[in-house]
Amino acid sequence: MAVVVSSRLHSYACCLLFIIISQASAQPSFVNHFCVSDEGRFAANSTYGTNLKTLLSNLTSNTQIDYGFYNLSYGENSDRVNGIGMCRGDVKPDECRSCINNSRVLLTQLCPNQKEAIGWYDKCMLRYSNRSIFGLMETSPLFYTLELVNATDVDQFNQVLENLLRNLTGIASASGDSHRKYAAGNASAPNIETIYSVVQCTPDLSQQDCNRCLVEAASRIENSGKISGRVATPSCNIRYENYSFYDQPSTTADAPAPSL
Ligand SMILES: *[C@@H]1O[C@H](CO)[C@@H](O)[C@H](O)[C@H]1NC(C)=O
Ligand SMILES: *[C@@H]1O[C@H](CO)[C@@H](O)[C@H](O)[C@H]1NC(C)=O
Ligand SMILES: *[C@@H]1O[C@H](CO)[C@@H](O)[C@H](O)[C@H]1NC(C)=O
Ligand SMILES: *[C@@H]1O[C@H](CO)[C@@H](O)[C@H](O)[C@H]1NC(C)=O
Ligand SMILES: *[C@@H]1O[C@H](CO)[C@@H](O)[C@H](O)[C@H]1NC(C)=O
Ligand SMILES: *[C@@H]1O[C@H](CO)[C@@H](O)[C@H](O)[C@H]1NC(C)=O
Ligand SMILES: *[C@@H]1O[C@H](CO)[C@@H](O)[C@H](O)[C@H]1NC(C)=O
Ligand SMILES: *[C@@H]1O[C@H](CO)[C@@H](O)[C@H](O)[C@H]1NC(C)=O
Ligand SMILES: *[C@@H]1O[C@H](CO)[C@@H](O)[C@H](O)[C@H]1NC(C)=O
Repeated sequence: MAVVVSSRLHSYACCLLFIIISQASAQPSFVNHFCVSDEGRFAANSTYGTNLKTLLSNLTSNTQIDYGFYNLSYGENSDRVNGIGMCRGDVKPDECRSCINNSRVLLTQLCPNQKEAIGWYDKCMLRYSNRSIFGLMETSPLFYTLELVNATDVDQFNQVLENLLRNLTGIASASGDSHRKYAAGNASAPNIETIYSVVQCTPDLSQQDCNRCLVEAASRIENSGKISGRVATPSCNIRYENYSFYDQPSTTADAPAPSL
């Protein structure tokens, strides 16, 4: 059981849906999405719609990118579509493409004819817009969710979590590059509770913007004393659990492992 909270600065057409598709398959579960109504809709057979289709199919057919960050623009002038797909830093290229492919299908169904939309899965996120969205730090729309179960020692747990998130934020923003800004690590809380966490920014952000985004995101969850939580914004996301949910080896492939 989890509570889901979202904060909105714009108006959204549908949304605040919390969907868990629990399939036994390797299909990643869909977490949340927003159809951003500010940018309006496109007509059924419009050039924008065709461009969006082309862009999204290119995103998922690109086999050259192996670092989990896809950013593409397609089309001209008012029909230009900008898209970003990003996978969690430990996800392999094949699984990444298939995650983005699944979100493409779901997101375009959930936000039909919407010029701008964003969706988050466990292992990837996808967004597109007619606005230029590259290199912009955006913390809205934001949503966060917390497990209802309390840690056994809330004060100490919060302290350990805060330190862990601070460390990971430093690593992701400072040691990341334009391909990946990601960090994963664990820390021991009292009573044999271990906290496992990943933090990630879109790598088109500057170090400063990545840091700012993660600090703001962390502030939504870090004093709750709950055993698991997540925050997602267009530019960064954080997740922590009381179990290991990410792959260790590939996180340590590029950068020295944070020994937390
Ligand atoms: C879109 O194009 C298809 C095939 O060209 C056509 O059958 C359909 O009527 C068109 N729809 C609209 C809303 O124009
Ligand atoms: C998408 O892929 C097609 C075919 O591979 C290619 O012609 C086109 O240039 C690509 N478009 C973009 C935006 O990469
Ligand atoms: C993407 O999903 C569609 C529809 O589910 C499927 O037909 C297609 O093969 C998938 N493409 C890739 C690259 O996984
Ligand atoms: C996006 O489309 C909306 C109308 O649907 C328009 O008002 C807005 O100016 C467009 N934005 C850009 C950057 O073209
Ligand atoms: C968790 O702790 C809060 C106080 O911090 C308390 O109100 C709540 O009942 C606790 N929840 C559970 C499930 O124990
Ligand atoms: C996509 O991102 C890469 C790496 O951050 C950057 O070098 C490239 O210019 C971006 N492409 C577009 C179309 O913005
Ligand atoms: C995580 O917390 C849940 C709820 O308290 C508990 O049932 C589960 O055993 C914990 N998992 C681990 C690995 O400690
Ligand atoms: C915690 O992180 C350290 C350093 O990366 C790693 O060596 C260790 O195996 C991790 N612990 C668990 C239980 O995953
Ligand atoms: C965070 O990093 C600092 C310095 O690198 C270290 O002293 C501290 O133990 C780390 N905190 C956690 C929770 O791992």
